[in-house]
Amino acid sequence: MKTGFVQFDPIFGEVDKNIEKAIRLIEPLDADVIVLPEFFNTGYLFTSKQEAEGLAEIIPDGKTTKALCGIARRKNMHLVGGIIEKAGDRLYNAAILVSPQGHLATYRKVHLFNEENLWFTPGDKAFEVYDIGLCKLGIMICFDWIFPESMRALALKGAEVVCHPANLVLPFCQDAMITRCLENRVFAVTSNRTGTEQRGGKHFRYTGRSQITGPAANILYRAGADTEETGVVNIDVSMARNKRLNQFNDLFDDRRVQFYGDLLNEVI
Ligand code: ACM
Repeated sequence: MKTGFVQFDPIFGEVDKNIEKAIRLIEPLDADVIVLPEFFNTGYLFTSKQEAEGLAEIIPDGKTTKALCGIARRKNMHLVGGIIEKAGDRLYNAAILVSPQGHLATYRKVHLFNEENLWFTPGDKAFEVYDIGLCKLGIMICFDWIFPESMRALALKGAEVVCHPANLVLPFCQDAMITRCLENRVFAVTSNRTGTEQRGGKHFRYTGRSQITGPAANILYRAGADTEETGVVNIDVSMARNKRLNQFNDLFDDRRVQFYGDLLNEVI
């Protein structure tokens, strides 16, 4: 299966131009699954809920979902990309999964970062895995990476390839994904944006370095820190189905949950 990412520097608020850019980058790619960054169509550094709401879309009828469905159909591929979802008076930091047949699923970011907590409602649904035929695909968004439970929940539900739209500002994630993939024996595609945003007295530099990581703690592709770039690699998904390390160890069967305390509960 061929999977990859597009990495670019979205222009804040210029939804049409950003969609156009994403499509221009995807068009020449020969791939089965492509991941786009978090908020690839809007930019990230919102200054109010009203501003975010003005850029939000209803899923699946909004223009971004429709545009991605169009190219997914034309190119016979699956796409995962981050947009603002409007649902009633709530806004979610969401990622849509579209197939050649249309919109398939929406993930709402569970762990909100920084001021996202002011504009968005935290995700209200469990991490889910989607069987797209070529692989079992899971989705998490950006800061979800710092909670190992995100990737673990996806892996325990059978995810083989984790699609990870991101707008990373901290320098740690790309290296951390090596361990996340190793400890769960999954592939991950982190699609990060580049560039800077200066709005409302804040200044963010996004770290680029989009990455495709393998289950043997191997970096299959790492993009530049500040480049407009696409990357596609051919992966052997079956590697993610085998959780055995050796004759005596299996990453999932060897878990001894009776000694972990109650991981599902609050800190006490
Ligand atoms: C992030 O979650 N966008 C850092």
